[in-house]
Amino acid sequence: MESVTLSKRLKKAGEYVPKGAILADIGSDHAYLPINLVQIGHVQKAIAGEVVKGPYEHAHKEVEKRQLLGAIDIRLGDGLEVIKQTDHISAVSICGMGGGLIRDILDRGVKDDRLNGTERLILQPNVGEQLVRRWLVRQGYSIVSEAIVEENAKLYEFIVAEKKPDRPTPDYSERDMKYGVFLRKDCSSLFQKKWKQEIEKLQFVSQQLKKASIPDSSKIEEVERDIAEIKEVLTCQN
Ligand SMILES: C[S@@+](CC[C@H](N)C(=O)[O-])C[C@H]1O[C@@H](n2cnc3c(N)ncnc32)[C@H](O)[C@@H]1O
Repeated sequence: MESVTLSKRLKKAGEYVPKGAILADIGSDHAYLPINLVQIGHVQKAIAGEVVKGPYEHAHKEVEKRQLLGAIDIRLGDGLEVIKQTDHISAVSICGMGGGLIRDILDRGVKDDRLNGTERLILQPNVGEQLVRRWLVRQGYSIVSEAIVEENAKLYEFIVAEKKPDRPTPDYSERDMKYGVFLRKDCSSLFQKKWKQEIEKLQFVSQQLKKASIPDSSKIEEVERDIAEIKEVLTCQN
């Protein structure tokens, strides 16, 4: 049977899926993550959810050609509407989308009772990470792990969250939300690379703002404040 080799990014997502889990991979255009995890015997079974017909059909073909339709159910639908309580999902992965979209998918999932709070959430927003963290914290999740992975010169953040009913939600700070709870403390070289890139972008914005015929001083101050804050975080004293 043809095996699937995961990209570094999806491999990382797989590492966060608990052994023996029943996984729902939402936005599963090729179903590679579920296929790989079933092939290596890491998950019992999986659901691959996709909202667009073309990628859904692609995912179906990839699973079918490996004769894994018994272990991986490919479902066409919007976000978490493809799962139901009787699926007994224990892990949900949503990778490779914007943070706002991931947040909205999760939010609808909670409102429609698709999530019951026992699932581990493995989230990889391409942008807008703080939108995801803020939603998680508002909903009473604890952030249990974070990582940054570099692939093809791009940096990807992972946020892993769980509800801990026996423990109060940790008291997260603004900086935890913006920079990451663990990422900020670990202050790894990839974390530093990510935020140095952000400083460069902000410095460019600041220069452009200063060149305007009527410079917006409050906007310039805001950007300069953001740069100063990032520089302080990058001293890794937090
Ligand atoms: C960039 S791809 C990422 C695919 C894969 N998760 C990965 O990380 O490599 C995003 C996929 O999510 C799907 N998608 C976007 N919004 C969705 C939604 N609301 N529900 C399910 N799938 C969605 C898109 O159609 C697309 O196939």
